[in-house]
Order: sequence, then C-alpha cells, then structure tokens
Amino acid sequence: MKVGFIGAGSIGGAMIKGLINSGVDPEDVLVKGGHSNRAQELQKELQFNLITNYDELKVTDIIIVAVGSPALDGVFSELKKIVKDQPVVSVSGGSTIEFMHNYLPNYSVALAIPNTPVSIGEGVTGISYAEEFTQEQRDIVKSVFEKMGQLIEVPESQLGIFGTVAGCSPAFIDVLIEALSDAGVLNGLPRQLSYDAVIQMLIGSAKLAQQHNGHVAELKDQVTSPGGSTIRGVAALEENGFRNALIKAVDAAQNG
Ligand SMILES: NC(=O)c1ccc[n+]([C@@H]2O[C@H](COP(=O)([O-])OP(=O)(O)OC[C@H]3O[C@@H](n4cnc5c(N)ncnc54)[C@H](OP(=O)(O)O)[C@@H]3O)[C@@H](O)[C@H]2O)c1
Repeated sequence: MKVGFIGAGSIGGAMIKGLINSGVDPEDVLVKGGHSNRAQELQKELQFNLITNYDELKVTDIIIVAVGSPALDGVFSELKKIVKDQPVVSVSGGSTIEFMHNYLPNYSVALAIPNTPVSIGEGVTGISYAEEFTQEQRDIVKSVFEKMGQLIEVPESQLGIFGTVAGCSPAFIDVLIEALSDAGVLNGLPRQLSYDAVIQMLIGSAKLAQQHNGHVAELKDQVTSPGGSTIRGVAALEENGFRNALIKAVDAAQNG
C-alpha cells in the first residue's frame, strides 16, 4: 500500500516516523514537503520517497494532508486535479469536511486529529468520515492509522475537544512528570532515577486504567489504606486544586 503525505512538519513528520518505524517500506511513503528544507532533512533520516510534484501522488492508496491552514486552499486546488478514488484524510486544523467537499464534491474525505505519540506507534487519532466513504476505504484508513496507535471514530462536532484532550494533554503530562520528579529530588532521589520511576509509573498506571473494567476511582480506592500515606497525598492534591487545575487547563486550551 502506498501512502501519500502533503506536509512533513510537526504532525506530518510524527506520522511518517510512526508509519516507517512500524515496518512500512519507506519507498511506499511518498512525501511532498513545503518551501523549507524540513522534508528533505527528515528524508535523510527516514529514507522515504520525497516527491516534488502532485502528479506523483496519483499512485497512492491514501493521501494524508498535514499542512497549516494558510496552505489548505492551494493544496486542495492541486488535489482536485489528481485524485481518483483514494481516500483523502486531512489532519489540518483549519479544514472541515464541508471545506474539503468544496474542492472534492461527493468525494471520500475524512478529517482526523492525531497526537504526537503517533511517532512511536502509541498515538490516538480521532476521525470523522464523509458519508461517501465505503467500507473498503475505511479499511485502508484503518490499516494505515492503526500502525500509529488507536483510531477512534468521533462525530465531527466533537473532534475539536477530542483534539484538545488528546493533543494538548501530552504537554500537561510532561509538566506532571517534571513536577513529580522534582518531588522525588526534593526528598533525596537522584534526578534520573526520579524521572525513570515517574515515567514507568505513568505507563503502568495508564495501562492498568486501560485494562480495568470499572471506574478509574476504584484503582485509587484500592491503594489508599485508612489513615495511610497515599490518602494523605490524595487529600493534599484536593486541597491544592489538582483536579480543577487539569479541568481548567483543558478548558483554557479549548476555549482560549
Ligand atoms: N502538531 C500537532 O500535534 C498537531 C496535531 C493534530 C493536528 N495538527 C494540525 O496539523 C496542521 C499542521 O500542524 P503542524 O504542527 O505539523 O505544523 P507545521 O510544523 O508548521 O507543519 C506544516 C508543514 O506543512 C508544510 N507545507 C506548507 N505548505 C505546503 C505545501 N503546499 N505542500 C507541502 N507541504 C506544505 C510546511 O512545509 P515548509 O515549512 O517546508 O513550508 C510545514 O512543514 C495544523 O493545521 C495543525 O492544527 C497538528
């Protein structure tokens, strides 16, 4: 299967990396870059098929658009001339299914919001399909995106908040990792040891929460013994507005 990319910036690059690291032949990943040498630099590392002409995308089975909003009009004007029946998935924030249909009427377009862990196959991508999509085309999209992590169908009206929760929170988690590690250092742990402990704890806790069939609070209840140290920590978090800080962070990211 040949996958075409238009745009190899932060998110395009992360997706290309995720695909190639998952075992996709770099020759089957066709990438058209922009005006800078960003795509060329990435090509040196990943050895994908760097193209310069939209016509070269004709042979692809799926086209992924990952450019910033100002470039969208130009890109879709060009796509209009070359697409046949391969699905077109835009991950660009400024696009909507209606916008894409203006250029490609009645065409199988989809809007997706990946997050940066797609680069290591641990991403989560929300996707909304136009109604023209056939099952076969959905299977193509699925087989590509699932190489980068989970793919979840989300109504288009909810893709924005999905993208905020899944796409902005990695930065919040980075702050959490740093703060927990600082707490370890404050109490005598060497820095690297503290980072290692916090990061593996997060991976394990996330996997446990994913595999748990009940409410996530049950996991917290299991580790908080009466009068014990963990419940004292939980109380300190509540006193300092931990939950509210996270809710406010997502809300600020979403609503400005
Ligand atoms: N970053 C994320 O985590 C994330 C997640 C989900 C969605 N998004 C959305 O994805 C879009 C891109 O975000 P980004 O963070 O990847 O931005 P970015 O780092 O600025 O990358 C955009 C890339 O598009 C390239 N480009 C511009 N015009 C082009 C053209 N005509 N043909 C081919 N390539 C072209 C640019 O290349 P040159 O610089 O070489 O001109 C640039 O490398 C945005 O709309 C954003 O909202 C981002």
